[in-house]
Amino acid sequence: MRTLLAILRYGQPAQTRLLVALAALFCFNLFNVFSLALIIPFLEILFAQAAPPEPYPSTLSLEAWKKYLFYQLYLFRLEVGPMTALVYFSAAIAVAILLKNAFRYLGAWHMTYYEHTLIQNLRNRLFAHLTALPLGFFVRMRKGRLLNLATQDVQIVQEAIIGTVYNLLNDPLTMLFYLGAMLVLSWKLTLVSLVVLPLTGWMISRLARSLRRKAHHGQRQMDVVLGILEEFLQGVRTVKAFSAEARERQRFLAANAAYTRFMIGLRRRMELASPLTEVLSVLVVLGLLYYGTFSVLEGQIKASEFITFIAIFGQFLSPMKTFNQAVSRLQKAVVSYRRIEGLLQQPPSEEYDRPGRVSVERLTEGIRVEGVGFRYGEKEVLRDVTLSIPVGARIALVGPSGSGKTTLVDLICGFYPPTSGTVLIDGRPLSEIDPVSYRRLLGIVPQDGTLFHATLLENITYGVEGPPDLARVWRVLELAQARAFVEELPEGLYTLVGERGQRFSGGQRQRLALARALYRDPQLLILDEATSALDSESEVRIHQALAELPRTYTLILIAHRLSMVRHADWIYVLDGGRLVEEGTHDDLLRRSGLYAHLYRLQVTA
Ligand SMILES: Nc1ncnc2c1ncn2[C@@H]1O[C@H](COP(=O)(O)OP(=O)(O)O)[C@@H](O)[C@H]1O
Ligand SMILES: [Mg+2]
Repeated sequence: MRTLLAILRYGQPAQTRLLVALAALFCFNLFNVFSLALIIPFLEILFAQAAPPEPYPSTLSLEAWKKYLFYQLYLFRLEVGPMTALVYFSAAIAVAILLKNAFRYLGAWHMTYYEHTLIQNLRNRLFAHLTALPLGFFVRMRKGRLLNLATQDVQIVQEAIIGTVYNLLNDPLTMLFYLGAMLVLSWKLTLVSLVVLPLTGWMISRLARSLRRKAHHGQRQMDVVLGILEEFLQGVRTVKAFSAEARERQRFLAANAAYTRFMIGLRRRMELASPLTEVLSVLVVLGLLYYGTFSVLEGQIKASEFITFIAIFGQFLSPMKTFNQAVSRLQKAVVSYRRIEGLLQQPPSEEYDRPGRVSVERLTEGIRVEGVGFRYGEKEVLRDVTLSIPVGARIALVGPSGSGKTTLVDLICGFYPPTSGTVLIDGRPLSEIDPVSYRRLLGIVPQDGTLFHATLLENITYGVEGPPDLARVWRVLELAQARAFVEELPEGLYTLVGERGQRFSGGQRQRLALARALYRDPQLLILDEATSALDSESEVRIHQALAELPRTYTLILIAHRLSMVRHADWIYVLDGGRLVEEGTHDDLLRRSGLYAHLYRLQVTA
């Protein structure tokens, strides 16, 4: 219930639609019952009984009013003749049914808008929340689970909501109207039927609930079957290599047999539901028929009223059933929504709303990393790293993979706070600096430079406000050795990049990512193995081009090929999260430490 309300809160912006729909559904139900009640005049014509004269209702009681109406009906029939009366009443029914359906459509029209808006808001909220989460969250969380949440679970909620809110509101309304009509016709008969109806309803819903639980169990058994299939598909090479096909078949047969056995039992129970309810409802109807006919014979109620009562009673079960289905559909959404809610409750990144942060316009002194340590959960990744990056310098970070280079750069960019120590920007702790202003100074080419699904031009000018400066775009493309291949594209800068940039090779993507970082005119340019997928020639040319740029920016270079870092002003060598050596290329070679070792390995290779 709490979850349901939480889900419905997403519909708030469309709440007026909900009210309009409700009003329309009210009218729909009114005309629905009215059209059913119009059977009475027909039956009256058919039976052509004389009504006892009742010129005015003597009392305000329902019985008196009913008698009065019947008398008017009788007069009307006498006046226009039964044939003409028939035409009138047929027309009345036709109009009532027309109106009823018009209102139903109107209700559904607005309800559909409400339901879809609700889902739209849920999706928007989820994505907005995702973008507000700190980077650390994404590093911890498995991507598959996130994707599953944002697509599958939202889909499940969507399927449970669309068409369901309609039933949730309309069915109780319909039942109320039917109940009202039945009460007006005969409260005694209503009482008789009400004794038995809830009993049937209760039995059906119990059966349904137990079936639902079983179905859940069935789903889990299906998971096992699918799991075997998936494992086989993934490991087909291994299965073949070990000639284990027969074993896999055996496993599959067993799981599938268990599933089938279970489903047969389930299906049999389901088949039991309709005979059971039918027997029960027949019993109710039998009781009604007996008591009703008895009342008619006793003269307590008119035959036409009795028949109409039966007609309405026959309709009563249907909204009850659809309402039950709607509730059970919603219950399916609950599990999924709870998962979504878990994500929404993740605290968003605090960095943007901590007050009193100063914004930085430019780097003047440089960056200092002081005694910085960092751990991912239990795992210590960086330990007591101290280093300086003066403005305008070309600094290289080297070390074996896994030594913590990317993590160090992440800390310098302020993507995570260090577990210990501080990162100082111009002598001021990074935690006191407005992150938006700081990141405007950075040009980062990450290891896995992503291109977005947009034109090349939009990709290169990404994150920079204002109209694109085309001359500048071509200049940075040239610097990044990307001009030639962009010029060869038939649509040039307006080429649409495919999903995740699949249209370009790894090397081309890296060059475009570099162009994007350069376009911002960064004060701190960070290349994290940004040229690793390039051929040596392009790589050398890029580094030459960068070296020839005026020294208006500071460079942090992480490169695998050490020949690329030899011209750096200063080289820091990381190993296992510690800073083990530093110096210029020549210093380090002379020292015959890790750097010299790595360098010799590469030169001789
Ligand atoms: N999300 C993560 N969770 C746990 N450990 C991680 C995560 N990301 C990186 N690491 C670990 O941190 C260490 C340093 O990684 P990284 O900074 O990427 O190294 P490098 O860039 O030098 O190859 C590695 O041992 C790696 O396994
Ligand atoms: Mg790395």
